[in-house]
Amino acid sequence: RQNERESLYIILNFAKNFYVNQLHDTEEGQAIGLSYFRERGFSQETRQKFELGYSLDTWDALSREALAKGFSVDILEKAGLLIHREGSQTAGYDRFRGRVIFPIHNVAGKVIAFGARILKADKHGRGNQPKYLNSPETEVYHKSDVLYGIYQAKNAIRQKEHCYLVEGYTDVISLHQAGIENVVASSGTSLTVEQIRLIGRFTPNITILYDGDVAGVKAALRGLDLVLEEGLNVSVVLFPDGDDPDSFVRKVGAEAFKEHIRKASRDFISFKTEILLQDAGNDPFKLAAVISEVVNSVVKIPDAIKRQVFFHRISEMMKVDEQMLISEGNKLLRKTH
Ligand code: CTP
Ligand code: MN
Ligand code: MN
Ligand code: MN
Ligand code: MN
Repeated sequence: RQNERESLYIILNFAKNFYVNQLHDTEEGQAIGLSYFRERGFSQETRQKFELGYSLDTWDALSREALAKGFSVDILEKAGLLIHREGSQTAGYDRFRGRVIFPIHNVAGKVIAFGARILKADKHGRGNQPKYLNSPETEVYHKSDVLYGIYQAKNAIRQKEHCYLVEGYTDVISLHQAGIENVVASSGTSLTVEQIRLIGRFTPNITILYDGDVAGVKAALRGLDLVLEEGLNVSVVLFPDGDDPDSFVRKVGAEAFKEHIRKASRDFISFKTEILLQDAGNDPFKLAAVISEVVNSVVKIPDAIKRQVFFHRISEMMKVDEQMLISEGNKLLRKTH
């Protein structure tokens, strides 16, 4: 097991170097990959920091090179780099072809997986090709444990005592380039306990910067009780409809971006209460459901003082008696403990 993990780190590092070289040293890489990154405004320094690369639009450029260097079909397959059909006479074909490459690093900086973006995509991809193709789960890559950018962000997170959480690879990269380095991405999935604990190793303070669309808002609400349970302080910032942190920071610049965060940042409980209240309107039954839902979130907070502060806050927002909320909360607390 230990040996296999080491072998995987070695082949993944080899692949990363190969993709970086192809970006710079091939005509196709320069004409397609490099111009793509330049168009997105990623500087050379940024490309180096994130070790961005390019995979040629051929069937087996990577695996041919790796096999020539003595790597086995088996390890290429286990690393998720080679797709090999059972019973096939050939070695197989490269998973990533004709895409720009975003290596995914673990906390220690080792490459454990890749995200690979198609060059021209609409919102979801192109034809039946997904916009992003990612490494499969492997011995060294458990998607649900990983945060993209944690290696590049960890010192800044510690220093600022704060972490921004975004959805995408390019959000992390654009924010770094704008001088905001305490940022990681959940890579489009809903947050897991493992990811939250990973942030918690560096700071208890987290602000969620989700894409400005309905799905983004819903995603922001879902799964966030989990963050409260872990004792973290969560705030939420929304962006104008259609923008994500990457497009927004490029549109308005770093200073206006930070100003937007300062102004639009809401603690998660108030944020959730406000959204649910808007949905409920004047319907007393819906209102009652909102009250239950919000009390449910508050009792997830392990710290009794923080709970008290939030009971006070939400009683004002929902215009209901604070003592009633507290006693309902206590009933729930007794049930769960
Ligand atoms: N994602 C994925 N597979 C997809 C689509 C998205 O893994 N088919 C993940 C990627 O990690 C992506 C994140 O979800 O970065 C957010 O998705 P989206 O907002 O659609 O992409 P962006 O990061 O904004 O990418 P871009 O700006 O290049 O369109
Ligand atoms: Mn795991
Ligand atoms: Mn984007
Ligand atoms: Mn996005
Ligand atoms: Mn009070």
